[in-house]
Amino acid sequence: ASLEEMSLPLYFGWFLLSSIQDKVRCTSMDFLKTLDTLEAFKKHLIDFTGKAEKEVDLEQYFHAKGTLHCTTEFCDFGKVKGSKEYANNPAVKESYGSAFELSLSALFVTPRTVGARVSLSEEQLVLWPADADKEAEEGAASLPLGSRAHITLGCAEGVAPVQTGLDLLQILALQQDGQQGELIEEMELGSLTYYGEGRWLLALREPICAPAIFSDFYG
Ligand code: A2P
Repeated sequence: ASLEEMSLPLYFGWFLLSSIQDKVRCTSMDFLKTLDTLEAFKKHLIDFTGKAEKEVDLEQYFHAKGTLHCTTEFCDFGKVKGSKEYANNPAVKESYGSAFELSLSALFVTPRTVGARVSLSEEQLVLWPADADKEAEEGAASLPLGSRAHITLGCAEGVAPVQTGLDLLQILALQQDGQQGELIEEMELGSLTYYGEGRWLLALREPICAPAIFSDFYG
């Protein structure tokens, strides 16, 4: 690899300030704690355990994955096609090191991942790569730009964080197909909906405003 290729990071993204990381972690822990006590959740426990009677402690089930961030472009040190163009985009260069306020609009849980949905502003969408939402899921191609934006809060044993964005796209594709999901209850934090196959979404009544720095990560 050339020196220039070597200089590309593992990924670009917004990195949450540490005080807000603690708040987001606490909020998601509270949510998990409540979720696994709900009768509606217990009814669908088999999605998580594979066995009907088994109990699950969601706080233990998911493992944290380092600094909370919202990935914009995964570069893999330049191995990903288009990552060089992304790094050279004037908007990316100008925003490097700048502060933003991310809006966390929902929390979601699947048997694989737990994450927060990030609703990007027009200004933030400028930093979102055009092809990031297209991956994998059928129907995802017709979702609005930035649909995949999220923060990985935890992954089940053996699951890689890349899965979180795919899980979010799946839920959004169901919503777009007109599948309203099953409204379970109004919780203090917001309304909880079940989308089948262990997919839960809590739409936050008050989005969490999360200050974050746009930067990169080399690992
Ligand atoms: P995410 O953004 O959902 O948290 P890893 O530790 O597996 O190398 O991943 C480093 C970061 O890059 C994680 O934040 C991860 O997921 C993200 N990531 C990994 N692979 C991809 C991919 N193929 N596309 C988009 N983001 C990815």
